[in-house]
Amino acid sequence: MAANAADDQLSALLQLGSLDEYPNCYPEINPQDIYRAHITSILHKISGVDKTIIYNALQWTASLDKGDMILAIPALRVKGKPSELGEKWLESWPESPLVEKPVVNGTFMPFFFKPSPLTQATIPTARKLGREFGANKANGLKDRADPSKGKKRMLVEFSSPNIAKPFHAGHLRSTIIGGFLSNLYTVAGWDVVRINYLGDWGKQYGILAVGFERYGNEEALARDPINHLFEIYVKVNKEIAEEKEKSESLQKDGKTEEAQSIIENGTDEQARRYFKLMVDGDEKALALWKRFRELSIDRYKETYNRLNIQFDEYSGESQVSEEAMDAAAKEMLEKGIAEESQGALIVDFSKHVSGKAGKALEKPIIRRKDGTALYLTRDISELLNREQKYHFDQMIYVIASQQNLHVKQFFKIVELMGHKDIAAKVQHINFGLVLGMSTRKGTVKFLDDILRDVGDYMHDVMRKNQDKYQQVENPDAVADILGISAVMCQDMTGKRINNYEFDMAVMTSFEGDTGPYLQYAHARLCSITRKAGLSEEDIASADLSLLTEAHAVNLVRVLSQWPDVVQNTLRTLEPTTVLTYLFKMTHILSSSYDHLRIVGQESELMKARMALYDAARIVLSNGMRLLGLTPVESD
Ligand code: ARG
Repeated sequence: MAANAADDQLSALLQLGSLDEYPNCYPEINPQDIYRAHITSILHKISGVDKTIIYNALQWTASLDKGDMILAIPALRVKGKPSELGEKWLESWPESPLVEKPVVNGTFMPFFFKPSPLTQATIPTARKLGREFGANKANGLKDRADPSKGKKRMLVEFSSPNIAKPFHAGHLRSTIIGGFLSNLYTVAGWDVVRINYLGDWGKQYGILAVGFERYGNEEALARDPINHLFEIYVKVNKEIAEEKEKSESLQKDGKTEEAQSIIENGTDEQARRYFKLMVDGDEKALALWKRFRELSIDRYKETYNRLNIQFDEYSGESQVSEEAMDAAAKEMLEKGIAEESQGALIVDFSKHVSGKAGKALEKPIIRRKDGTALYLTRDISELLNREQKYHFDQMIYVIASQQNLHVKQFFKIVELMGHKDIAAKVQHINFGLVLGMSTRKGTVKFLDDILRDVGDYMHDVMRKNQDKYQQVENPDAVADILGISAVMCQDMTGKRINNYEFDMAVMTSFEGDTGPYLQYAHARLCSITRKAGLSEEDIASADLSLLTEAHAVNLVRVLSQWPDVVQNTLRTLEPTTVLTYLFKMTHILSSSYDHLRIVGQESELMKARMALYDAARIVLSNGMRLLGLTPVESD
């Protein structure tokens, strides 16, 4: 077959498939769409049902043995008994070049695709599109009919650790899920802005500054700012606690004056004064804080790079201006949303939202008696500010489900303030807890500790297979990447909302549905490609009709689903949608190797099988990169 014969084949298929156009039909980049359009036109002719209804009713199947696509007959909303309707339609079912004649199974009509055209539609498309296979940039267009109107803008706020405090499991999950969602929307053609909203303001920076004056060490700060600042923070907090205890016991002993003097001149008070200087814009006080912040960000950036994440903006609680918060508070007061209560400003939701929902939102404070703003107030102002700054189409906040109430509160307040349009475009993507997250040396403090520890563990696992281990060129680097994949896949295995157990033995295993398993599957495909040593022209000219074995056919069937899986993920916003698919695909792939050998085969068959494995490698690599993993090339 000539190199461009595959292209001709595909256009012939497209003519068969795209008899009609549908709003979300992209047959040139999504093989399943050819079938959707084709089946729709057949069913429309026979049943007279509206094409869009049919098109949208054609669903995925749970597994290949249930067919390639399935129709729930009742979804067509035709009067009559579904099974009888189905039987009637089958009587006039025409011979199709693309699908086998279906059968009616209860209220369902499953469709099996004819293998040969599916192979022709899938492998060349995947190979031609390469890294773009699965992507559909039209998703993110403001107007699909007129691309010149530009892309929609998505803000994703995620990770958001607190400077000088531990990077806990909640931040880890937010980082992984947020990174994934950013990739997902990028692949879907949106203009994605990644925002890290740091916990970088508050009295704790006063504490930190006072502590730095006592224990700070410039060299340690430059070397390892995150840990150094944390150590100082812990030390000073301990002193504050001791002072408090001491003053309480003095008080008990009637030594009121001494007790009072500790409170008035103690560390806590010094910290409070320091933070006050910061709030009032004292340059010297701010300079130190700024240095802490910048050094911490620099260090975080290195770690985020290891996870393939780059933020467009490091914002944070410190960046929300006091004026903006004052203005927001004033507005809330004027609009009757906020009210005074014992000198503070609160929002009593039961007065604004009726019934249980209002009660459930409680009565949060938005400004303390002493005039200082809170976490909640900052989020309100920051959201209004982001609207001004970015004019976004949608925004996602990736925050642990422990903060569900907080997020509901600030979304609702913004809505009550009259910004219904803004409230309608923000979304909270939440997630459950990680249980038992600890390193071998104790509880986890920072992201780096987690990654280093899992990397070490991974290295031990690799050493257990000495034969393989000897062949690995740079075991440290490989262990590092595999370790990161292990952590990430474990995190993305279940639905986001589920809690999971942090288990190093399970996540680092090469067996079972783990990150290392996926990496191994990818490395194996790369190694097959190297060993086969075929040129691009050889593979492109392969006669794909030679791929007739059940294993080859099933592999093609599952590969053809990839663009649909991405579309489905845009609906679920669950990393597990992608991961579950990748495991399904790689299981079929691993069981195929013995049946679909390359080495030692006659040359035409070699080429055809190589084209199939190449398509599999493309899908696997695209899927892994969508999840944020770095696919390794050598096994
Ligand atoms: N820094 C916060 C924490 O560690 C998370 C911030 C979440 N984002 C937000 N907009 N509130 O709990």
